[in-house]
Amino acid sequence: MILAIESSCDDTSISVMEIETKKLIFHKKISQEVEHSKYGGVVPELASRLHAEALPKILTECKSYFDNLKAVAITNAPGLSVTLQEGVMVAKALSISLNLPIIAVNHLIGHIYSLFIEKEEIKPMMVLLVSGGHTKLLNFNGIDNICEIATTLDDSFGESFDKVAKMLGLGYPGGPVIENLAKKGEIVVDLPLPLKNSPDIKFSYSGIKNAVRLAIESGNYKNEDIAASFQKKAIEHLVFMSKRAIKKYRPKNFAIVGGASANLVLRSEFEKLSEEFNFNLYYPDMKFTSDNAAMIARAGIELYNKKRFINYKDLKVMPRVE
Ligand code: KG4
Ligand code: ZN
Repeated sequence: MILAIESSCDDTSISVMEIETKKLIFHKKISQEVEHSKYGGVVPELASRLHAEALPKILTECKSYFDNLKAVAITNAPGLSVTLQEGVMVAKALSISLNLPIIAVNHLIGHIYSLFIEKEEIKPMMVLLVSGGHTKLLNFNGIDNICEIATTLDDSFGESFDKVAKMLGLGYPGGPVIENLAKKGEIVVDLPLPLKNSPDIKFSYSGIKNAVRLAIESGNYKNEDIAASFQKKAIEHLVFMSKRAIKKYRPKNFAIVGGASANLVLRSEFEKLSEEFNFNLYYPDMKFTSDNAAMIARAGIELYNKKRFINYKDLKVMPRVE
């Protein structure tokens, strides 16, 4: 079995997965959303302290598996440096005390492997990663063969939901609150479709965000109409750019991963695309869309099979490495 730890942002999670069968034996996650909500975003120092409390708590619950462990998988990049560090410290302590090799897992690759929890991987596949920290289109053809097609020039998709929610005083995280509020609203606010005249495949969310800010400041619109109009345009931009990439690469398989892949309006828009362009569409199970250690264990197994081990002395956090 492999034990995996995730602490890159505001979720503390540990999982245990069987290497051969990829069966998830243990999985627990303690989310800090409530604690950060009143600040309208994640406060790194607070997050770090809460990880330090939660990690040992969860670890004691999976002690019975320690004798069966072959390796420890740990998210060491990208993320908040002070929170990554908490998980890395625990991984090092486990490695030293149980004499286990360490597997360093990139959080973004972890999100891709959220698709394959208790499943075999599917490749090749185009992947849209939409989280709080990233908005990327990737061509995935196995763990060592991932090419970036597009990324964001500024804010990420999830982050723009968080910022709009903050402007409306709705707390953190913004994604689920905005999605809910949008159900009651009408599309009446005129917002720009970013980069529509540029020939490139790129994302940008700062323009929509600023237009939303002006709409709020005008006092002319109801919150639910702001939410509905913003969500529509934010998703339209994802679809617009993804369509360009789909026309260029003609993927047979397409997946949406990351925290924002939980958005049902987003899912239904991509279902329409999948019919138009005839590809198979995949998402992670709802419970694995946001950050979790099960996806880290699953990616860790791929690296375990390639014997991609790292000594605890060489393990470092790399907050900005993507
Ligand atoms: O993957 P994740 O849990 O953490 C990062 O790696 O960033 O993603 C969290 C992000 C937050 O920005 C949150 O607002 C967004 O995902 N999110 C959503 C929805 N649920 C979560 N965005 C849009 N619609 C949702 N339903
Ligand atoms: Zn994430």
